[in-house]
Amino acid sequence: MSTYYTFPDNFKWGAAASATQTEGASQQDGKAKNIWDYWFEIEPERFHEGVGPMITSDFYRQFKDDIKRMKAVHFNSFRTSISWSRLLPDGINVNEKAVDFYNNVFDELLKNDIEPIINLFHFDMPLHLQEKGGWESLEVVEAFNHYAKTAFELFGEKIKRWTTFNEPIVPVEMGYLNHYHYPCVVDMKRAAVVAYHSMLASAKAIKSYRQLNLEGEIGIILNLTPSYPRSDSEEDVKAARIADLFFNRSFLDPSVLGKYPEELIELLRDYDLLPVVNEGDLDLMENNTVDFLGVNYYQPRRIKEKGAPIDSNNLLPESFFDSYIWPERRMNPYRGWEIYEKGIYDIAINIKDNYGNIPWYVAENGMGVEHEERFLDKAGMIQDDYRIEFYEEHLKWLHKGITEGSNCFGYHIWTFMDNWSWLNAYKNRYGLYRVDLDTQERSLKKSGQWFSQVAEHNGF
Ligand code: NOJ
Repeated sequence: MSTYYTFPDNFKWGAAASATQTEGASQQDGKAKNIWDYWFEIEPERFHEGVGPMITSDFYRQFKDDIKRMKAVHFNSFRTSISWSRLLPDGINVNEKAVDFYNNVFDELLKNDIEPIINLFHFDMPLHLQEKGGWESLEVVEAFNHYAKTAFELFGEKIKRWTTFNEPIVPVEMGYLNHYHYPCVVDMKRAAVVAYHSMLASAKAIKSYRQLNLEGEIGIILNLTPSYPRSDSEEDVKAARIADLFFNRSFLDPSVLGKYPEELIELLRDYDLLPVVNEGDLDLMENNTVDFLGVNYYQPRRIKEKGAPIDSNNLLPESFFDSYIWPERRMNPYRGWEIYEKGIYDIAINIKDNYGNIPWYVAENGMGVEHEERFLDKAGMIQDDYRIEFYEEHLKWLHKGITEGSNCFGYHIWTFMDNWSWLNAYKNRYGLYRVDLDTQERSLKKSGQWFSQVAEHNGF
């Protein structure tokens, strides 16, 4: 007997994207450089096949047709970001061409009954602000608040759902604990400052939003990685708790509960990693929590205690990906992200039980696949049954979480069309539409047909 999974009324079906990853036109119409434009200029060889952020998926020019394509697969919502360095090239003055572009995009979405959910920061620090210290600098926190206010004032009548940040852990983990985002620093103390200042910036922007009395809601998007110990040993269990504190709760707790977990504060204090907390900061965070949460879910963390002496630069336990080999259970052999569908259910229940059952939605879930041209059929369609299975299995677990009372209002996939993914550029394809990089032509994949049905019927 087959089961039919129906989702709540008005459930949001759609996809997520970001400015830098889709717009292209990175040096056009007055846009200033962000760290990606700059990094590609100085080290193009670090980017997969030398593909940089200049053109990406050409959304800047093709957005009207792309929105038609969204409509064709029954999206009722779409999340993207504003490019900070496009809107405010010098950090202060508004670029009218950017205002026109975003107004046109938002109008086109609204005309098609696709709700725009707009995010402010998606890894794309303007270069001139990175030169002032990026998120390490309180001046940049203020500059972000100016940008946020400007965006709310310009577009706040149209946009009813905002988010301050997408995955704030990622610039910390990739840019200040690893070499995968500029400025490629490895320094736990500086990483802690970046994490703290992002939360401060988010709370300030939320406060500014509320002061404008606009009709709408504001949230944040976090990539939650449920941390499971590799064994039952006391050490591994403790290590998994520490990983959860660092990677999830450093953002989840201040955003939703308005305060940091005591255990995290103690840990940071013990290793002399506590950032400077200025007077008023903690009140600001406590009084400016989010209205809703977006959750990006890709993979869990399997945690093992490191077995090495801990010092302030060696605090993090080891994370492993389970040794699955895709297509069995791993996204692809190189990247090795584990596919663990139940993680989405564990997140749903965690939010329900420990975070006041705040309204939330899946803001990204998706499967990146290398060399997807392997699956092209004679008619030119990618037969991505693996992706359909991936979505279905996640949706079944999500459905169970909702049935048990978790307050989830939508499911957005990553992503609508293949797009540029930072250092990996176009290596892993995620789209419902395939993008041919030579011609910029889009073609629907089998998963696109499947998604269209699900969105149209609010279930499967
Ligand atoms: C999450 C990020 O938000 C997005 O920028 C990225 O491309 C996808 N994950 C896929 O890795």
